[in-house]
Amino acid sequence: MQDVTDSAFWNLMHRYGGADVYWTEYFRVHAVSRPEKWILKSIAENSTGKPVIAQMIGNDIPSLIRTAKELQQLNVAAIDLNLGCPAPIVYRKCAGGGLLREPQRIDSILGALREVVSIKFTVKTRVGFASEKEFDTLLPIFAKHSLDALTVHARTVAQMYRLPVHYDLIRQASEAMPCPVIANGHVYSAVQAQQLLALTKTRGLMIGRGVIRSPWLFNQIRQQLRGESLTLPTGREVLAYIRALWESQASFDAPEKIQCERMKKFINYLGEGVAGNFLHQIRRSQSEAEFYRICGEYLDHDQPMKLEPVAVGGEAGF
Ligand SMILES: Cc1cc2nc3c(=O)[nH]c(=O)nc-3n(C[C@H](O)[C@H](O)[C@H](O)COP(=O)(O)O)c2cc1C
Repeated sequence: MQDVTDSAFWNLMHRYGGADVYWTEYFRVHAVSRPEKWILKSIAENSTGKPVIAQMIGNDIPSLIRTAKELQQLNVAAIDLNLGCPAPIVYRKCAGGGLLREPQRIDSILGALREVVSIKFTVKTRVGFASEKEFDTLLPIFAKHSLDALTVHARTVAQMYRLPVHYDLIRQASEAMPCPVIANGHVYSAVQAQQLLALTKTRGLMIGRGVIRSPWLFNQIRQQLRGESLTLPTGREVLAYIRALWESQASFDAPEKIQCERMKKFINYLGEGVAGNFLHQIRRSQSEAEFYRICGEYLDHDQPMKLEPVAVGGEAGF
């Protein structure tokens, strides 16, 4: 995730059990691009002991080939192509989710990359640009190129991050693809994750915002799949996680106000799992002291916390 999944964040997740595999932020690829230094640094500094997948975004075949060749020399488990980014600045240039409007171009890109990627080659896609009906055209193209895995974020680009997530289409992909399929989109609890694995028949889950909200989710899902009871964090443990997050993100050069703003980006997700006016108040905080005073008000207790979004469900069916 852009501006989130660097090695400091992976290492923090790892302290809570962590993922089985981590994806980098995407490398922007174009005619004069060079792999971003900070993403290379994250790969080099990964101390989780878990594999890392290097993600690229772009549409220029010679540049994608050049970058893929370069990235596969690094300590990465796979090269991944992003076909999902919904940011207008990206899709208007026909990269990320924008490419979903041009299936033939995707076909050429995947063919060219599969030829030069000798390690695992994977794709992360949404289910269409304007309509989920486009997935019927896209799937045979993905199935054609000997991918090693396909991650499906089951929303269209036009949907951005709104519900519903079309989990039925992830199942369609699992049934149609010769490679493992990974389900993505709005995974927020261990019980729902188990239901989702069964419903979609996928080999794994990719989780983004749900583990920023609750890094305990990784282990809770493992506990749920083993039939064990779930370990819930107490308010004070959530407070300790927020402090660790601040430390992992702190930059000695940045003024306090900037650091506070950066933390708010993370707390936007975590705050969805805290009842009352927590999020509203945090968004208005201007200093570290004020930020922690509000955190203390809501989290300095020993009650277990589920950290599930307060408003969930809707048409997604969960
Ligand atoms: C701030 C932010 C940055 C993201 N950056 C990326 C990215 O670089 N590459 C990518 O494949 N997806 C990216 N995504 C999408 C997520 O990986 C994921 O597909 C999406 O958030 C849905 O999953 P979730 O509900 O588990 O978060 C980003 C999402 C957010 C909110």
